[in-house]
Amino acid sequence: MIIKNFDEIKKIRTSCYLASQVLEMIKKYIIPGITTKKLDKICNLYIINNQKAIPACLGYKGFPKSVCISVNDTVCHGIPKNKKLKNGDIVNIDVTILKNGFFGDTSKMFLVGKVKNSNKLLCNITQQSLYLSIYKIKPGIKLNTIGNNIEKFIKFKNNYSIVKKYCGHGIGKKFHELPNILHFKNNNNIILKKGMIFTIEPIINLGKNKVFILKDGWTVKTKDKSLSAQYEHTILVTSNGCEIMTIRKNENIPKIIINK
Ligand code: MF3
Ligand code: CO
Ligand code: CO
Repeated sequence: MIIKNFDEIKKIRTSCYLASQVLEMIKKYIIPGITTKKLDKICNLYIINNQKAIPACLGYKGFPKSVCISVNDTVCHGIPKNKKLKNGDIVNIDVTILKNGFFGDTSKMFLVGKVKNSNKLLCNITQQSLYLSIYKIKPGIKLNTIGNNIEKFIKFKNNYSIVKKYCGHGIGKKFHELPNILHFKNNNNIILKKGMIFTIEPIINLGKNKVFILKDGWTVKTKDKSLSAQYEHTILVTSNGCEIMTIRKNENIPKIIINK
């Protein structure tokens, strides 16, 4: 796993900040009736014209749009299209920015209009699972601390499941670097060190964890049509804890976590 130097960290911090800004910018547009294609276009123009940055998803392994937008039973990698959002939908937008040769990656859930409490809870629990894993991060711990703690937490929710097919990843000069960050119980004994940067991005289903990919080659859906939620942050391991590089204002967690 790559240890980033000061200059690399600075550049990744910029890309992460820009990615988080896109999620803040798009919030007010998420209303019933707007298409995910329109949301993608707004993000595309903002990233290119305003941020002078590159939407890293566009053209990545042939992905056709600038951001991933995954609605309801879409697990991840949703391709923005002409379909309108409707009252009660839950929507993940996943933004990856490339600037000055470095990547930053983050996603969050948005609620469309009035959402059922049980579906809101899925989103909240998913975010909590990300947060509790972030609170554990410091040099010297094993990488599997992340997945083990997410699984322990999600186990208490009887009808929830953790998607195992997708994982977090190192990030920096490349979009996806080693190691893979598993969100479930595992035996990866790599020891975290100061200067490591990776994403944590748990996907939780309100049902079974089996998924399938549509014929478009991208869109991942739950087999049982249950709803799916995901939150993602890019994390820097610091000397005594971690830094949430993609933090947004209004998040209920500090940017710098000291974990003695
Ligand atoms: N942003 C996603 C991740 O968290 C990857 C999207 S790849 C794309 O790793 F091609 F679908 F954009
Ligand atoms: Co990612
Ligand atoms: Co992402």
